[in-house]
Amino acid sequence: MPNYTFTLNGKSVTVDAPADMPLLWVLRDKLGITGPKYGCGVGVCRACTSHLNGDAFNPCIVNMSDLPAGAEVVTIEGLATGDTLHPVQQAWIDGDVAQCGFCQAGQIMAAAALLRSKPTPTDDDIDAIENVCRCGSYYRIRQAIKRAAGV
Ligand code: FES
Ligand code: FES
Repeated sequence: MPNYTFTLNGKSVTVDAPADMPLLWVLRDKLGITGPKYGCGVGVCRACTSHLNGDAFNPCIVNMSDLPAGAEVVTIEGLATGDTLHPVQQAWIDGDVAQCGFCQAGQIMAAAALLRSKPTPTDDDIDAIENVCRCGSYYRIRQAIKRAAGV
């Protein structure tokens, strides 16, 4: 199997994996990174949302052979800075957003990416997040994003 080297949550990792194995499988099954959840496997539910070079993406639809050279992948495990939570994580706790929790890592990563590109998002910007929550926590998600943005 080929070797792939990339940066994961600030550290260089090298992993043996089939070229057609999706990154989500590598993260979860080979590297023990289970924050990104497997929901649909086809880029629809967004439960696996993480960051690739600073942008939200879905590792379930990126095969290892398609991972760009020098890729920097951040999962929910790498979002905080040491013991300091990312403002979105803190807003989630303050707003008691999670219900079952399954979608929440993806929701937080999508929100963090949104705030990086749009620090004061409008309702339309928040509506553009397509992450599915089967528990219907959308109202609290919206409030938490606004709290993190200070709007
Ligand atoms: S598991 Fe990746 S989008 Fe659904
Ligand atoms: S909190 Fe249960 S699916 Fe979103």
